[in-house]
Amino acid sequence: MIQKPRGTRDFLPDEMEARRAVEWRLREVARRWGYREVCTPEFEDLELFTMRSGEGIIGEMYVFEDKGGRKMALRPEITAAVIRMYINEARVAPKPLRWCYFADCFRYERPQKGRYRQFWQFGVELIGADSAMADAEVIMLAADMLDSTGVEYELKVGHLALMKNLIGSLEPSLQRKIRAHLDKKEFDGLKATLSETGNTALADTLISLVECRSLKEAFTIAGDVPGRERIEQTMNALDAYGVRYSLNFGIARGLDYYTGIVFEGFAANLGAENQILGGGTYRLAHLFGGDDVASCGFAIGFDRVMVSRGEPVPERKIVVGILCTSEGRASALAVSRAFRSAGICAVMDLMERGLGAQLANVAKMADFAIIIGGREAESGTVTLKNLHTGEQKVLDPQAAIAEVGAHGTRG
Ligand code: HAM
Repeated sequence: MIQKPRGTRDFLPDEMEARRAVEWRLREVARRWGYREVCTPEFEDLELFTMRSGEGIIGEMYVFEDKGGRKMALRPEITAAVIRMYINEARVAPKPLRWCYFADCFRYERPQKGRYRQFWQFGVELIGADSAMADAEVIMLAADMLDSTGVEYELKVGHLALMKNLIGSLEPSLQRKIRAHLDKKEFDGLKATLSETGNTALADTLISLVECRSLKEAFTIAGDVPGRERIEQTMNALDAYGVRYSLNFGIARGLDYYTGIVFEGFAANLGAENQILGGGTYRLAHLFGGDDVASCGFAIGFDRVMVSRGEPVPERKIVVGILCTSEGRASALAVSRAFRSAGICAVMDLMERGLGAQLANVAKMADFAIIIGGREAESGTVTLKNLHTGEQKVLDPQAAIAEVGAHGTRG
């Protein structure tokens, strides 16, 4: 038996219905904020993702050579592709651009619960607005979107400038090591790394910055941070909007393109893979041949949101089984069409069985049976049977549709 590729999943109808329901909640929030959907290719030139994604993601990419010898990659994320599209298609469009997407990404990671090789992101990118209000808008939208999913979460907001003020003069490779230690709260590792390089005192300062939860205190620790006023304005806007968040200046992010505000969301009920959202401000457009446009965005890890929500409980819509004898078939086709036109799911028997066998079969999956034999066909009526109560009556088709329609969802 052939199995699906490792790290991928099949979704049965119940799960797909639950996924679509959450997807539509996110779409609805995006719509209310004026973010319109875009779509980019599933694969791109490899270079698009190697320029500024960072070592972690580059090492996890699905890379292949096409028949023309071009090096391609399945997208590991969508931000770089959206900015490439902005440069190709929309660089002269009035700013800011408010875009969103819902699409799959591919990362060759070690699979576990909440970590897949094919996974879906619901993301937004705000392109061409460079202000505290722009940064705040994206974070407020992130909070509204996570609220709409019903998942319990914690939102952490930080800014790279504070950390940069403390470690910006160190070697880039040492900076990366420090950020990785801080991101994982490996304070002993941090101390060891810094004492090896003769920066022992810095470790305590960095640890106090990462643990500090007040903006004022953070600025005291980090020193004279450029753009302090903008950071304060952003946080004030978040407070005014009522966003629930905590400050965290240890957020490092796995991707290398961030420049300022960074934020992450964590689901309360998930284990190791509990990060359900990540984002921040970045500048990528100039790397791909465009203008140096400021952007801010985030992506929600849709699959992790679904894991956090637990087993799907899909809303069951009424199903009607249309049963007939050969004399009733023409009438049954017309009646099934009328049910569907009224927005009700109607399924016909396809096995050419007797009415008794049809009824036994339909009772397993439908709520009502419509029975059309020779007598009903002749009189233009149908027999409507409620499969939950066993109640049965002869009606004209429109009355049967009205009666079924009045039930809404399954009991
Ligand atoms: P990211 O943090 O790499 O950011 O991914 C965003 C979210 O995707 C993560 O928080 C996580 O929930 C989910 N995710 C990542 N890898 C996996 C995986 N293997 N399986 C399941 N879920 C996963 C980005 O991708 C940026 N492009 C976000 C962004 C948009 N920044 C600015 N604009």
